[in-house]
Amino acid sequence: MLLTTYDQLSEKTMIYLDHSSTSFPKAPGVGDAIKTTLEEHGVNIGRGNYEEAFAVEAEIADTRYRLATLFGFNDPRQVVFTPSVTYSINMFLYGFLHPGDHVIVSGMEHNAVMRPVTQLARLRDIRFSVVPANLRGEVAPDDVKKAILPETRAVVMLHVSNVTGTLLPAAEIGQICHDRGICFALDTAQSAGSVPIDMVAMNVDFLAFTGHKGLLGPQGIGGFIATRALSSEMEPLILGGTGSQSNQYEQPEFMPDKFESGTPNIPGIIGLRAALLYLEKEGIDDLHRREMAFTSLFLEGLKEIPGVVPIGMPSVEGRTAVVSVNVPEKDNSLIAYELERQGAIKTRVGLHCAPLAHKSLGTFPKGTIRFSFGATNTEEEIYTALETFSRIMSK
Ligand code: ALA
Repeated sequence: MLLTTYDQLSEKTMIYLDHSSTSFPKAPGVGDAIKTTLEEHGVNIGRGNYEEAFAVEAEIADTRYRLATLFGFNDPRQVVFTPSVTYSINMFLYGFLHPGDHVIVSGMEHNAVMRPVTQLARLRDIRFSVVPANLRGEVAPDDVKKAILPETRAVVMLHVSNVTGTLLPAAEIGQICHDRGICFALDTAQSAGSVPIDMVAMNVDFLAFTGHKGLLGPQGIGGFIATRALSSEMEPLILGGTGSQSNQYEQPEFMPDKFESGTPNIPGIIGLRAALLYLEKEGIDDLHRREMAFTSLFLEGLKEIPGVVPIGMPSVEGRTAVVSVNVPEKDNSLIAYELERQGAIKTRVGLHCAPLAHKSLGTFPKGTIRFSFGATNTEEEIYTALETFSRIMSK
C-alpha cells in the first residue's frame, strides 16, 4: 500500500541516513524563523515602502552577507537567490555560453549539469567534453588541462560527488582555469556547509549552492555567487519584475536584481539565515568532524559484512560523509527496502540522478545503496544500521 498521509507513517523511530538528499533535522531555529516570517512578517520585499518591508529586506541582505562570508567572497550583492543548485547551474549555462563554445565537465556529474549541457549541445551548437573519473571517483587536474580547446569557455563540475562523497580537486582545477582565462563554475551541492570553501583562493567564478543539504536550511532555497566580471557577461534566464527601475522594459543590469525576478522565497531565505547562524555558532569544522567519525565507523563496520562492496574512496581520506555500496549477488533495492522495513533505516538506492558518475564507477545501470551521514546521527544509529545490514546479508 502506498503511504499517502503523515498519519499513515510507521511509528518506528527512523534512522535517517539520507543527508545527501536533504539534511534532516534542519538546524535548530529554522522552523521557528519560517513560522515567524509567515505569521508575523509575511510581507513582500522591494515593492512596498513601509517599515515591515524594510525589516524583511534587512534580514535578506544579512543572509547575503553571511553567505558571501561563508564562501570567502567580499561582495554580498553578488549573491543571487534561486530555488536550487539546479536552477543556478542552468542560469549559468544558458546565460553564459554561446553557439560554438566548448565546456568541460567531470565524469562524476549529476544530471543537474548533464541534462542542460546535453540540451545545449542539441539546440545551441555548444560542445562539451567529459574528463574521466577513476573507479574511486577521482578526477586528475592534468586531464582537465588536456581537454581544453581554443573554444573552451568554462569548466563546470561538482565539488563533491553525491554518489561516493569523493572530493574533486577544485582548487587545482580553478588554478588551471584562471591561468587559461576559462570560467570555473563549481557545484557545491554536496560540499557547502561540510567542507571549507574560499571562492577567491580557489579561483571559482561561479559558485552554485543549495540551502537544504550541508547548510541545514529548508528546501526550495539555493543560489549562486558570481564574480563581478562574470555577472556582467551573463544574460539572465528569467526576466521580470524586480521592484527596481520599474519604468523600463529592460531588465536591470545591477546585482542582484539582474538575476532575481519575481517575488523571492522569503520564508526560505529567512529559514536559511537561521541555519547559517547555527553553523556559525557550532562551527562547520566541528559538525564535519562528527559526520566523518560516523563515516569512519560505518566503513570499518562494512568490512565485517561479507558480500558488500564499498564504492569510491577506500577510507575517510578525500571524501565527505557519503558511502555508496553495491551488493553484487543481491538486488540493491530489496536490501534498501529491508533496511527500512527491519530497522526504519532511510537510504537512497539507484542512480542518484547521476548516471554518468555510475558509468565512471562501473555501477551503471544497477546503481548503489547510498548511506549519507549528518552531525545529528548517533553512534548507536550507525551500529544499528550495520547490524541490520549484516542480518539482511546473512539471509
Ligand atoms: N541530488 C540529491 C541526492 O543526491 C537529491 O540525493
